[in-house]
Amino acid sequence: MAGAAASRVRHFVTLADLTPDELARLLADATALKREPVPAGAPARGRSLALIFEKPSLRTRVSFEMAMVHLGGHATYLSPAEVGLGRRESVADVARVASRYVDLIVLRTFAHETTEEFARFSSVPVVNGLSDVSHPCQGLTDIFTIQERKGAAHDVAVAYVGDGNNVCHSLMLAVALAGQTIRVAAPQGYEPQPRSRAAAAAIARTTGAAIDVVRDPSDAVRGADVVYTDVWTSMGQEQEYERRRRAFQGYQVNAALMRLAKPDAVVMHDLPAHRGEEITDDVMDGPQSIVFDQAENRLHAQKALVRWLMAVAG
Ligand code: CP
Ligand code: NVA
Repeated sequence: MAGAAASRVRHFVTLADLTPDELARLLADATALKREPVPAGAPARGRSLALIFEKPSLRTRVSFEMAMVHLGGHATYLSPAEVGLGRRESVADVARVASRYVDLIVLRTFAHETTEEFARFSSVPVVNGLSDVSHPCQGLTDIFTIQERKGAAHDVAVAYVGDGNNVCHSLMLAVALAGQTIRVAAPQGYEPQPRSRAAAAAIARTTGAAIDVVRDPSDAVRGADVVYTDVWTSMGQEQEYERRRRAFQGYQVNAALMRLAKPDAVVMHDLPAHRGEEITDDVMDGPQSIVFDQAENRLHAQKALVRWLMAVAG
């Protein structure tokens, strides 16, 4: 609420805001919170969180709201219609005002720059709850889920098939911080952005992670431990739907593609899924799919994130 100069506040706008050690501690805390979902002592008693969203959400909104219930604090949600970020009021002024009321702000925006600008003017930690460039809460959950299922060894190989989008960027950064292996297969023109690739590569040089971007989904999936996909058309790209549907032919996670992965490979998806496009029903509902366990893990991973950010914010 009141507090430290905005410039000294710890934000979580991208996974690159974390060190590998901080990530490891968050994952350990998420494991503890999964075992004891309502920790003793109500660590967030008297503390509050605002969710300010320009786009719809199921997982992000509800998991943060329930995280605050379990930690003994309170969450308040402002819908796209209410906020009018940059229209009803400037981004900077919303940040200045909201951070006088609450201890933590989760922001879901169209433009990543909006979240960066908001963070510059907020006197409390800002968590990126998805932007057009990144989805770090998802990436945090994804690496938690990957290590829960497959361990933390360097050679645990994640294959990401599809759009080099916000979810892909954050998954690359998460795997880079964890020192593991990821191969991304994307069609021409839909590869992950150079800025996110460079950030992941810089982290990988310090952790020993292996990151590769290829064209052919078979090259990514062959021998993989985890096969991950996301929608071809993200929120805000609806007018590109037909063009994207054509561009992503051959990038569907289906039974034939899964046969190239390790026999015990798991299938992940951040959800919501566009069934029949990036993933088939039989794979999504099949024995290798862990997509709903992954969705549950949003709660545990974000609870650890909230507890940590409230502790570092004092
Ligand atoms: N995966 C995810 O962020 O889902 P929501 O858009 O429902 O929050
Ligand atoms: N890439 C998707 C993720 C949704 C959680 C989108 O931005 O719409």
